Amino acid sequence: MTRRPNTRIDSSVDLSAHYRTVEALTQPLSVVDWFGSPGPLEVEVGSGKGLFLETQTQQHPDRFFVGNELAFGYARLAAFRMAKARVTNGIMVQGDGLKLFREWIPDETLDAVHVYFPDPWWKERHRKRRVMQPGFIADIQRTLKPGGRLHFWTDVEEYYETTCELLAEHSQLSGPVFVPEPPAEHDRDYRTHFERRMRRNDHPVFRSYFDKPTGRPAEPVKH
Ligand SMILES: C[S@@+](CC[C@H](N)C(=O)[O-])C[C@H]1O[C@@H](n2cnc3c(N)ncnc32)[C@H](O)[C@@H]1O
Repeated sequence: MTRRPNTRIDSSVDLSAHYRTVEALTQPLSVVDWFGSPGPLEVEVGSGKGLFLETQTQQHPDRFFVGNELAFGYARLAAFRMAKARVTNGIMVQGDGLKLFREWIPDETLDAVHVYFPDPWWKERHRKRRVMQPGFIADIQRTLKPGGRLHFWTDVEEYYETTCELLAEHSQLSGPVFVPEPPAEHDRDYRTHFERRMRRNDHPVFRSYFDKPTGRPAEPVKH
């Protein structure tokens, strides 16, 4: 994704309640400290322009969303969308998502992790820059609550298959569970901006989720 300077943020809108940076964090992520409630907590890594956060915070006022984005302009744009919508259940954190997870997200705190259309880094020598790599997958496994869910969508078949293999090797998450193409009638019905772009160009999208086992023993089989 190109890093264009951001010209669409109305500077009169106060972003302070919706914007933080990884580098300035001093305390581990806590849904009670950040949102004042023990409700379900979901984190999106690589939020881009923030369509997912803008729509999900409004559709699910009983859940709390932390968005994360490396690019400064996009992080501010995503925060602006939530501030403009006056939602109180979403906060954007600018910075490296891998560092956010590694250093600031405690064990078993997340109900869901969302990763949509991460940069594919096509060249073999750049693959190590991918978000979906063993260390991050171990952190997803560690930070999800039992029964928590990873949502992973991409338009790159090779990235999809490689991620499924990495998840099988480096986590105990079950999946992939295939997600059929959701209906989209309006601009904002898409999960993210990239999903919208891919579907408008008739490009296939690979959608799936993976669940962390609950740890509860299986129900006895009735004979
Ligand atoms: C291809 S874009 C997809 C954006 C959005 N998820 C969508 O589907 O429209 C990938 C995004 O991930 C961000 N990104 C890349 N590496 C990241 C990292 N380590 N931490 C957080 N964000 C990252 C990029 O800046 C970019 O905005």
